[in-house]
Amino acid sequence: MNNLSNEVEEHYHSPDLFGRILANLKAAGIALDEVRRSDISAVDEFHVRGAEVSKELAAGLQLKDKQVLDVGCGIGGPCRMLADEFGCRATGIDLSEEFVRTAKMLSELVGLEDQTSFVHGDATNLPFADRSFDLVWTQHVQMNVEDKTKFYKEITRVLKDGGTFLYYDIFKKGDEEVNYPMPWASQPKISFLAKVSVMENILGDQGLRKVQTTDQTEKGILFFEKLLANLAASGPPKLGLNLLMGTSTKLKLGNLLKALKEEKLILQSGSYRK
Ligand SMILES: C[S@@+](CC[C@H](N)C(=O)[O-])C[C@H]1O[C@@H](n2cnc3c(N)ncnc32)[C@H](O)[C@@H]1O
Repeated sequence: MNNLSNEVEEHYHSPDLFGRILANLKAAGIALDEVRRSDISAVDEFHVRGAEVSKELAAGLQLKDKQVLDVGCGIGGPCRMLADEFGCRATGIDLSEEFVRTAKMLSELVGLEDQTSFVHGDATNLPFADRSFDLVWTQHVQMNVEDKTKFYKEITRVLKDGGTFLYYDIFKKGDEEVNYPMPWASQPKISFLAKVSVMENILGDQGLRKVQTTDQTEKGILFFEKLLANLAASGPPKLGLNLLMGTSTKLKLGNLLKALKEEKLILQSGSYRK
């Protein structure tokens, strides 16, 4: 892995994350041998609108016994949701060793270790054979990836013919700079924001066909306004994304909200067929 990858990994480094999640579950009165997926879903989905949006994106997918790959899976919440609710076999890959270790332990904690697996690796060099997955899914990852061509080419390569690529992501709208820290980068050096057209052109060149896109910006803004109001009123929740984002959570979320409101950034989801 190169220096920038190390810096991305360092940005997400969250020491003893699993231990802190367990401690907060206990503090919330949840017995550790009875933890359900819903008990951890506020902390294990690291993207705008968390568990709620993943369910929306997955609605209608036919995934029974299918192979799914989550590129940049974080601590594995979306993989567990897809495996549990759709009966698929979900594999996650992430650059952060700490996140992959935590993802595995969380799957064991909620009894989903047989339907999910997690691999430490780089999205631009996927350790999977061509045409291995029926669905490739990615949420809020490519902003950390400089080489967009490699990123989307690898996704296309591991997708089966007829398979679906589904993304939910943050893109640049114009050319104006945004303020840092952001949730994915404390400094611009590890942030590679691009316009949607960059992704569209690469996927088009790879022969993928666009199925649909949805502008998620308005819903994201409403979500952040509510979240920041709750943070101001009640402080950080026991089991929330503050466990992953640390002491600068409010600043990171505030900067992202501002950039969305000023139309410097947009949130978009969409799908492509190979
Ligand atoms: C904002 S988090 C999103 C995590 C997850 N997709 C989710 O929605 O819960 C971004 C994740 O992308 C991972 N990441 C960044 N660059 C990567 C790369 N080149 N290869 C694999 N993972 C990467 C980070 O380690 C981090 O876990």
